[in-house]
Amino acid sequence: MENISMKLSKVPAHVGIIMDGNGRWATKSGYDRNYGHQRGAETALKVIEWSKEFGINYLTLYTFSEENWKRPQNEIEFLFDLLIRYFEDNLKRIIENGVNVRFLGRINKLPESLIKTCKEIEDISKNNKDFNLIFALNYSGRQEIVDAVNKILKEKKTTITKEDIDSNLYLPDVPYPDLIIRTAGEERLSNFLLWQSAYSELYFTETLWPDFSYDDYFNALLDYSKRERRFGGISSKSKDMEENL
Ligand code: FPP
Repeated sequence: MENISMKLSKVPAHVGIIMDGNGRWATKSGYDRNYGHQRGAETALKVIEWSKEFGINYLTLYTFSEENWKRPQNEIEFLFDLLIRYFEDNLKRIIENGVNVRFLGRINKLPESLIKTCKEIEDISKNNKDFNLIFALNYSGRQEIVDAVNKILKEKKTTITKEDIDSNLYLPDVPYPDLIIRTAGEERLSNFLLWQSAYSELYFTETLWPDFSYDDYFNALLDYSKRERRFGGISSKSKDMEENL
């Protein structure tokens, strides 16, 4: 496994993952939906380790969207308890290995106990530089853009540039995601990193999140490594051909 990145001609610096399918996995296997989330959390732990091995620098996990408040109260409460346990039991160990952890979203609107855990995690990992782990929590891509615009308006600006939006995002230093993976067959972004994903490569797999394996991840990265990113330009091959005319 240690030489795996050699098989990939390029590795994305930043991967975003929409971890979908916990509920379907549970229902299909005869379990309660909440058990699906618990298994999903275990998959997330493995994916963090694999990301480091692949040489990825930033991993953003879509953990709870602003729209997820529409779920039944008991599922929301279970998710928040699971997150607190997860952050306290696993993240501290991960942080000891040099991981910087941050949260992306309107964290202050979450329950007090979860806010406290998030702040503590951010604080103890703030000087770590080996790997950047970001949990999108109570996150909405549209809201992030609106919040950025409102911050800029407070500066009494009359016109707004793309750079203004960039520098007023929740985590302005984080590079745009190169690759966004979504599990469980749905092919949409669901309000995830809307501004930042303008030129991200998108990869969809039918695999339900609790079943997402090392091979699934590797296949997504292999697919990415074969793509040509043009960012609105023309392919480097056609450019060479034009220059030789
Ligand atoms: C989608 O499954 C997943 C979520 C709503 C949140 C993601 C949460 C986890 C993976 C668990 C906790 C994660 C961490 C990192 C501790 P779904 O319920 O929408 O599945 P469905 O579409 O099949 O119903």
